[in-house]
Amino acid sequence: MRRVQMKDTTWSQLLGMRGQNFDPRRAASDPAYALYGALASTDGPMVLAQVGQSLDGRVATPFGDARDISGPDGLAHLHRCRALMDAVIVGVGTVKADNPRLSVREVEGRSPVRVVIDCHGELAGDEGLFHDGGAPVIVVRSDKAPRKPLPADVIQLHRHDHGLCPHEILEALTDRGLHKILVEGGARTIARFLDQGLVDHLHVCIAPLIIGSGPSGISLPPIRMLSEAHRPLTEVFSLGSDILFDCRLGEKEAPSGRPGKKISVSDNTALATAEMG
Ligand SMILES: NC(=O)c1ccc[n+]([C@@H]2O[C@H](COP(=O)([O-])OP(=O)(O)OC[C@H]3O[C@@H](n4cnc5c(N)ncnc54)[C@H](OP(=O)(O)O)[C@@H]3O)[C@@H](O)[C@H]2O)c1
Repeated sequence: MRRVQMKDTTWSQLLGMRGQNFDPRRAASDPAYALYGALASTDGPMVLAQVGQSLDGRVATPFGDARDISGPDGLAHLHRCRALMDAVIVGVGTVKADNPRLSVREVEGRSPVRVVIDCHGELAGDEGLFHDGGAPVIVVRSDKAPRKPLPADVIQLHRHDHGLCPHEILEALTDRGLHKILVEGGARTIARFLDQGLVDHLHVCIAPLIIGSGPSGISLPPIRMLSEAHRPLTEVFSLGSDILFDCRLGEKEAPSGRPGKKISVSDNTALATAEMG
């Protein structure tokens, strides 16, 4: 496992790397470049999903406290990911639970455009991110949702059987010049993008605490055999306070997995039942 120690000069280079070639030789000798170089150099399209979780795979307590799961280096990592992306997507559940700012504060860099998936129009308009003077906010909702005015750019999409189509969400963001997308959570939102095979990189950042109960960061339908599990090509980095699994979902799976199998999230009820059991 390689230890990432970010130097200011490296981070400045990474922030200015968009559209340049990724250098595999530098990645071999510099873990910080290996972890962020591909994200920084891509001009898009790209989808990165990131989960900050405890040792036992939880992202919050059952009562919704999700602050401070990641240690300081995990938090800095999350803010670096935000700074390298054009937009950050969260579900309405995360906005209601955490009232997040979704800004870049722990490192130098520009805050991404904030996108909230609010299929049924649950947002009231008084949530913090609409009034904190931060990056622009886009709300994506169903064309059947109440047309409540919000202080944001509202995208109305057709609601399919399983909700809003993640492909159509990405297309709408592309139309607005947003190509590099961070899907930050929660579990149900990440699952929808995984389901459609749209996630290129999945970052699972593990902090050394045990919560014991509460929601997990990735929710997929139950499988019977471990041979059905996904085994993405993964590189593991020590960030310091946290350990990061950088999973390349866009690449061929590791040999013991089943290459090319699509992750399927079609029955959330079965999923919830299986989790509770
Ligand atoms: N530690 C971390 O990294 C992290 C990051 C973010 C959030 N969290 C935690 O995660 C929890 C919230 O997660 P969550 O899974 O409950 O909520 P969520 O994913 O933030 O939001 C779920 C809501 O968004 C809707 N939604 C998402 N994608 C949709 C789509 N494509 N089409 C239609 N509707 C869509 C869901 O609809 P359905 O009900 O139809 O599914 C649901 O109403 C909070 O406790 C938060 O603190 C942790």
